[in-house]
Amino acid sequence: MSSSGATGVAAAPLLDLHPDPADMRQLVVEGLSRSPKQLPAWFLYDAEGSRLFDLICQQPEYTLTATETALLEREAPAIAAALGPGTLVEFGAGSARKVAPLLQALAQPAYVALDISAEHLEAACTRLQGQFPDVPILGVCCDYSQLDALPEHPLLSGTAHLGFFPGSSLGNFEPAAARTLLAQFRRLLGPGGKLLIGIDQPKAVERLEAAYNDEAGVSAAFALNLLRRLNRDLAGHFDLEAFAYRAIWKPEQSQIEMALVSQRDQQVELAGQVWAFEAGEALITETSAKYSPAAFLELAGSAGWKGAERWSDPADDLSLHLLVQAD
Ligand code: AVI
Repeated sequence: MSSSGATGVAAAPLLDLHPDPADMRQLVVEGLSRSPKQLPAWFLYDAEGSRLFDLICQQPEYTLTATETALLEREAPAIAAALGPGTLVEFGAGSARKVAPLLQALAQPAYVALDISAEHLEAACTRLQGQFPDVPILGVCCDYSQLDALPEHPLLSGTAHLGFFPGSSLGNFEPAAARTLLAQFRRLLGPGGKLLIGIDQPKAVERLEAAYNDEAGVSAAFALNLLRRLNRDLAGHFDLEAFAYRAIWKPEQSQIEMALVSQRDQQVELAGQVWAFEAGEALITETSAKYSPAAFLELAGSAGWKGAERWSDPADDLSLHLLVQAD
């Protein structure tokens, strides 16, 4: 737990429930045993990965963040009214920049930020606490997709839980896992819980592929950082020069597929085993599904949620859906 910030503003407390290296090793072994090889997307978010992701959000081709931020700023009063009282619980808060308009608009805001990167989370909560000194804030370092229950804490007792899942992060889960996650959010948020979720929609292929292949090469650096992380945390021996990044739109799955493609036949030691990569073989680092409003509401409905409201940007590129429990 952190105690106080250098600025004199009390730092937000932090609970550390990060998965341990043994769990990570197990997930790596499972992911590299699959065909095609694929690792959980949250592995991308060590401190450097979180920093690079923030940089992706500033690239001109990656319009999702700016569009959603503008939408949140514009609609915050209406969203706050529809949410009603309760504690905002953000899943995968990252740099926790999107929540500010909501904290400003809610009558009695309280905020719990969940994220996998402890360093990033601590910095984000401390910055936010400086911006909103009177708002109770708690950071919880965890893999929210594996959480059995929200931690016991005064901020989370005796109040409605208002889930916040912006950024279209649901798209980074395969459809079956996305449904499981939505159902899990429903359980975590409890009876009367609501969920405000940002969902990116299908659009022209050129725009989609450009968003994940930015000119400045930040998306590539973000993916390659995964190999650096595996080298560091799981005694890996990846040669970063021997993999090239690519991102392509897969219309059948309505998703972008991001991968590191092996540039030659090679064997890589990792997690105590040797893994063979053929020349041209892809290691999928992440997929990013895009849902039309109807497709998303169908998925949400299968997880026990129903749509209460939808807000969208003028071009209808992205939606903020407010979900309530179906029964
Ligand atoms: C966090 N998530 C919603 C991003 C996306 O658009 O799928 C992750 C990302 N990866 C590369 N660029 C963006």
